[in-house]
Amino acid sequence: MVDPDEPVLAADDEALLRGRAAFETTRVYDGKPFKLDEHLARLAGSAQRIGLPPVELEECAELARAALEAARAPDAVLRLYWTAGREGSGKPTLLALVSMIPPHLEELRARGMKLVSLALGLQADLRAFAPWLLGGVKSTSYAVNMAAEAEARRRGADDAVFLASGDVVLEGPVTNIWWRLGPILYTPALELGILAGVTRATLIAAAGELGYEVREGAFPLAHLGSSEEAFTSSSVREVMPVVELDGERLGAGMPGSAARDLQAALRAAAVS
Ligand SMILES: Cc1ncc(COP(=O)(O)O)c(C=O)c1O
Repeated sequence: MVDPDEPVLAADDEALLRGRAAFETTRVYDGKPFKLDEHLARLAGSAQRIGLPPVELEECAELARAALEAARAPDAVLRLYWTAGREGSGKPTLLALVSMIPPHLEELRARGMKLVSLALGLQADLRAFAPWLLGGVKSTSYAVNMAAEAEARRRGADDAVFLASGDVVLEGPVTNIWWRLGPILYTPALELGILAGVTRATLIAAAGELGYEVREGAFPLAHLGSSEEAFTSSSVREVMPVVELDGERLGAGMPGSAARDLQAALRAAAVS
């Protein structure tokens, strides 16, 4: 257990030199990380795709438990990193970080987010047959994602949504995206190379019980733009309503009922 001020990575860890590390972010409710097994399975998959040594799952779970116990923060963010280790060593480094839930999330949930669409320039199905593009992999090579968030803020919005060529909707820099028309919820299909969000899977399971039908596919931006409501999903931000897209009001311009219902269902699942 180390103090956050204490350096823990070697300067030649490939996570730093080349962004060769897999990571996971989970939200901790009442001291328990939500869906830790699912996050660990995704971490193992990401590590394999990046070409890292196999993830030691039991060690990850043990370290997560120890870090949370030491942090004594019932509501927190837990991040796990599995890096390539020092250059040429073949010995991975495992890190667990516990941090605070970002402030202002509930404020943002109440007012709803403004999104801007940003082109990635990829053919929509390219990542399905180009594994070297690491579609659906959660690696620390997130500089493009962070640059997209910064671009969104520069344009006066809160976040971005990525588009493939043909204006096909993909995902946000750190979220999956959803929208609703009547009782049907739309969300991009995993075949588009987006991240298989743990929250996304939780919402798909919850949607049926709430009377929604979920359709996954390749949908154009205009479809999202003409929806009745939209929202994003992620472990830390949970279900976050979207009220504006590219400077235009989306739906009624206020957080919608599906976002509210699914947020309640997610919380219920998390604290049960
Ligand atoms: C690119 C991307 N898409 C989607 C998500 C949402 O995934 P999850 O619900 O597992 O947090 C994330 C989360 O970090 C992400 O980075």
